[in-house]
Amino acid sequence: MTDTTTARARRRAAVDPRFPGRQDWSSWPAYEAAAEGFRGYWYPVEWSSRITGTPRAVTVCGEKLVLIRDGGTAYALFDRCPHRGVPLSMGNQQFPGTLSCVYHGWTFDLTDGALTAVITDGPDSPICGKVRVVTYEVAERLGMVWVYIPLASEAAPSIDEQLPEELVGNDFVMGGRMGDRVGNWRFACENGYDEGHAKYLHRTALWRLYKTMPTWNLTHIEKRGRWIYRVQDEVHFEATFPGVGTWTNYRWWKQRPPTETFNIGNTGKPKQINPVIAAQEFPGFASVSMPGVLRIVYPTFIHYEFYVPVDADNHRYIGVMVNFPATKRSGYWFFARYLGWIRWLFHGQFSGQDALMVEATDAPPERLYRPDVSLTMWRQLAQDAVAARQAGS
Ligand code: FES
Ligand code: FE2
Repeated sequence: MTDTTTARARRRAAVDPRFPGRQDWSSWPAYEAAAEGFRGYWYPVEWSSRITGTPRAVTVCGEKLVLIRDGGTAYALFDRCPHRGVPLSMGNQQFPGTLSCVYHGWTFDLTDGALTAVITDGPDSPICGKVRVVTYEVAERLGMVWVYIPLASEAAPSIDEQLPEELVGNDFVMGGRMGDRVGNWRFACENGYDEGHAKYLHRTALWRLYKTMPTWNLTHIEKRGRWIYRVQDEVHFEATFPGVGTWTNYRWWKQRPPTETFNIGNTGKPKQINPVIAAQEFPGFASVSMPGVLRIVYPTFIHYEFYVPVDADNHRYIGVMVNFPATKRSGYWFFARYLGWIRWLFHGQFSGQDALMVEATDAPPERLYRPDVSLTMWRQLAQDAVAARQAGS
């Protein structure tokens, strides 16, 4: 899939007409190298409610971790006992504040990973204090446990600096789904931010049953802060393709297409926008930021996708729908709507169409087209973020 050695070999072998276009991602070398994700970021890994006193194994950026909760706090350790390499996630808790390996009972402190007792070597075991398991910084936000995957062993920056700005300091109600999916995380992120596909691939989604999607848009990308936005300059609901015919998503049972160009919501100009959302003054409804966070803004809620790298061939998809209710009552109403249909139509069938495409994607080689400016600008954003870090800014 992203086997660049193969891609380069193809390029060297001159032009193979079966694989036209760009043969690799060497224009964005850091991005090309990030098959297992970018280190130096926070990643959401599991719902908070699923992290209990029973250890749970997760893999992030190719790194195996064990998560456990003790005294209300979630901890993450490297999931490998230094003794003989058995996963610590196979063990359990024998003493408060610790995790014991299942094999010989080496017992590690959850806060710093220090070996504090060895059950099978007595209270004066001389190895105690001499061995340590790497620990990871953990935060809990949006009902999820997040882990910081360091570049080396640096302290984590505040997670608030990485979260979408509007989720820090505003009250919100949310619903979400997460699950492991096949395919590289970059294919998932590129799919999410891809300008071209939604109008066509998702035209059959029940989520869009009554809403007409555009046929094509003319779009440019704007950078603002940490995010890049897709900004629609033209929105066309019908087009006549020379020598081929006319095509539209409009059907008699669907809402009539609007006449104006709009940049919040993707089916028409909204009558009313939630005040918290309006205050953000988003230039476009689709935006993406490092390390693979998608934000799709609707008039009354925002949908986020987090593409968490598991390894080079798998990612964890997390979809979260957030509403900023003016009153408690409207928050309950949003959550009821989420459970009643958004969860099944949007986070289910609609998102399932994306999952199939991500699994089927096989690039590079790739012959990009005009709307793919969304992909190349996202790759550039990632490339620039790595370069900025290396430059120490
Ligand atoms: Fe973990 Fe022996 S392998 S205690
Ligand atoms: Fe999609």
